[in-house]
Amino acid sequence: MALLEIRDLVVEFDLPGGRVRAVDGVTFDVGTAEAVGLVGESGCGKTTTALAIMRLLPENGRIAAGSVLFDGEDLVAMKRGPLRRRRWSDLSIIFQGAMNALNPVRRVGDQVAEPILLHEPSVTRKGAWRRVGELFELVGINRDRRRDYPHQFSGGMRQRVMIAMALAIRPRLVIGDEPTTALDVMVQAQILELLERLRAELGLAMILITHDLSVISETCDRAVVMYAGQVAETGTVGELYRRPLHPYTERLMRSVPDIGNVRRLPAGIPGHPPSLVRPPSGCRFHPRCDHAMEVCRRTFPAERTFDPGHRVACHAVGDDGRTRAPSELPLLPSARALADLDPRREMPTLLDGAGAALVGVDGEIEGITAEGRP
Ligand SMILES: Nc1ncnc2c1ncn2[C@@H]1O[C@H](COP(=O)(O)OP(=O)(O)OP(=O)(O)O)[C@@H](O)[C@H]1O
Ligand code: SF4
Ligand SMILES: [Mg+2]
Repeated sequence: MALLEIRDLVVEFDLPGGRVRAVDGVTFDVGTAEAVGLVGESGCGKTTTALAIMRLLPENGRIAAGSVLFDGEDLVAMKRGPLRRRRWSDLSIIFQGAMNALNPVRRVGDQVAEPILLHEPSVTRKGAWRRVGELFELVGINRDRRRDYPHQFSGGMRQRVMIAMALAIRPRLVIGDEPTTALDVMVQAQILELLERLRAELGLAMILITHDLSVISETCDRAVVMYAGQVAETGTVGELYRRPLHPYTERLMRSVPDIGNVRRLPAGIPGHPPSLVRPPSGCRFHPRCDHAMEVCRRTFPAERTFDPGHRVACHAVGDDGRTRAPSELPLLPSARALADLDPRREMPTLLDGAGAALVGVDGEIEGITAEGRP
């Protein structure tokens, strides 16, 4: 049994004009001390999944179906009292953008002490203050800075405060919702290193939410790729990088710049994620997919498992676990048009004014040096 088992989770929000299903049948596990990345474009339901796990959805949201088993106990069915006791002490969250939500007129030490005093009535103020000092040192802040105010901290230091707060009641699982997104690259790397170290030292399980696959590759054991409220593909990070099966995963991979190979240009994903009020029929990715067939428009693909733990929902993946190339498939006209728009073909046009750059068949730019000069 995994530490966290999410099964067929469905989350809906009420809107003035109707209802939106932001998470639709999401299933994945997180093992003890395992780091799982949740990745996908903006609006695909990452934060909603995290808030549902914590049962901290906004008022107009609710879990319509599914279960969230933590250590075998279903958090969805749990009464508020026991749930409140487990929240923060068993599992906690670093909210998206939270480092900007620290109360500007309260000392940071008091803000980190607050959950300790709330959750552990036996701990005195002095004891909580001491624990805040230990937490600060754990996350790389001098304990003397407990008396400072948020404006005296840089963005990276404020994020460290938020991590200290998430660890205050010694949880076994921490969800980090875009914990590095607002930070510059150097500070991002420091925060990721810190999370890595904490995971090793404290045996923490982690769900790391991001739209950036490179962050996941550096930090996580496994990844869950979400698209439009559903899981497209799940697997170990190594397996997903080596052998992405779902065309969306493959596109996400190609959209990350490869600094080890400056000659390979990142490719975007054409179009935009769909509205979840009226999502596309069948596979929700079909209007943007260059592998899309008639069956994709009609039927949602069943999820299949290939290697242990490598799960994918896609009609283009054969029983042999290989994704058919567009040329092998009876494509929809829209998919054929997308294949024509492939950035590999677009590149000569984009670079026309840049000189004599040529584009190789594998998408690499020939005749350009690392400095970008022909
Ligand atoms: N309180 C709400 N009321 C109505 N719809 C909501 C609410 N919160 C989120 N949604 C909708 O649910 C969907 C999923 O949103 P969510 O914030 O989970 O996405 P996300 O993957 O975290 O995106 P991002 O990368 O931008 O943070 C979106 O379509 C969003 O508009
Ligand atoms: S091939 Fe079909 S099922 Fe697979 S991602 Fe594309 S549209 Fe979806
Ligand atoms: Mg989000």
